[in-house]
Amino acid sequence: MKVEKLDAFFQPLTIIVVSSSIAISFGYGAVLVNNGIITVGELITFNVYLNMLIWPMFALGMFNIMERGNASYDRIQNVLDETDDLNDIGEATVKETNFNFNEVTFKYPTAQHNSLEDITIELNRGETLGIVGKTGSGKSTFIKQLLKIYPEGSGDLIIDGVNISSLNREKLRDKLGYVSQENILFSRTVRENIMFGKPDATEAELTEAIKLSAFDEDLARMPEGLETLVGEKGVSLSGGQKQRISIARSLIKQPDILILDDALSAVDARTETRIINHIKDNRKDKTTIIITHRLSAVHHADKIIVLENGKIVESGTHQALSNGSGWYSKQNDYFITGGES
Ligand SMILES: Nc1ncnc2c1ncn2[C@@H]1O[C@H](COP(=O)(O)OP(=O)(O)OP(=O)(O)O)[C@@H](O)[C@H]1O
Ligand SMILES: [Mg+2]
Repeated sequence: MKVEKLDAFFQPLTIIVVSSSIAISFGYGAVLVNNGIITVGELITFNVYLNMLIWPMFALGMFNIMERGNASYDRIQNVLDETDDLNDIGEATVKETNFNFNEVTFKYPTAQHNSLEDITIELNRGETLGIVGKTGSGKSTFIKQLLKIYPEGSGDLIIDGVNISSLNREKLRDKLGYVSQENILFSRTVRENIMFGKPDATEAELTEAIKLSAFDEDLARMPEGLETLVGEKGVSLSGGQKQRISIARSLIKQPDILILDDALSAVDARTETRIINHIKDNRKDKTTIIITHRLSAVHHADKIIVLENGKIVESGTHQALSNGSGWYSKQNDYFITGGES
């Protein structure tokens, strides 16, 4: 702001100084010529030299351009110098996708408290895990451990007998289909957004993914079908449509591990049931992790865990948990009675 203020002051000032110097030299010069002290030629010469001096004077004042460039360059360099905190040196690959969380504790680098504490859980290939709990209880954080987004905390996260730190991040992510809580869509067509999950997918695979994610009915109503442009971040779509495109994108690659992070929050109950049934039928021998605020999405899960402040406070099947007296059964009753009890 200081620089801009000075600039705003100096620009008109220089114009005034330059103009008045020309006015003075011609005015006073005319008097001198009239009195015979200088010739007309001398007056013209003087003015030409004066004009030649203006630009170098301006240039002297432009030193601050260099300073500005320096400041900008420093900022860019800071970004370019940033390294990956994770230093992914792992080489091993994932085969079977059996997970073992063993007392995993994790704190975000900027946080005061642990966001996950002593998480111990086992999940075998083909099983479905449901994760529920209040907002901010650590559900998404749990998933981010699997994705290797943050440096590991303490405890062991073992996949197929190998510690996650020895697993290659890219190869691990190849196995995963992840629908994040925030839908990330690109300003392209519906087709391109779905095919992003598997660029070499066939037309049949595309149709299948659309069917599984229950997007077929919506698609029929879209002006240009698969070629409809979704706009920046999918502005021209409804929340539920965005979610289902994201689900189709992850289903098209038939991942060994499917992770849905609150991915059904914006679809109606009937559509949710349709998608869950498709997933159940289609992924019998594959692992699925479903995070949700609506318990109906995890009724069928082999295991359900309830998180609170980063800890597992309850775990079991839907049947066992709803017969208990914890958060899950209260939440379940609330859904059944509509919160009137
Ligand atoms: N990048 C971050 N840095 C610091 N703290 C974070 C970060 N992300 C999340 N947290 C904290 O970790 C805790 C768990 O967050 P998390 O996103 O896992 O909650 P969640 O269970 O997924 O909630 P929701 O149901 O609202 O999605 C919260 O208290 C949150 O404030
Ligand atoms: Mg979350």
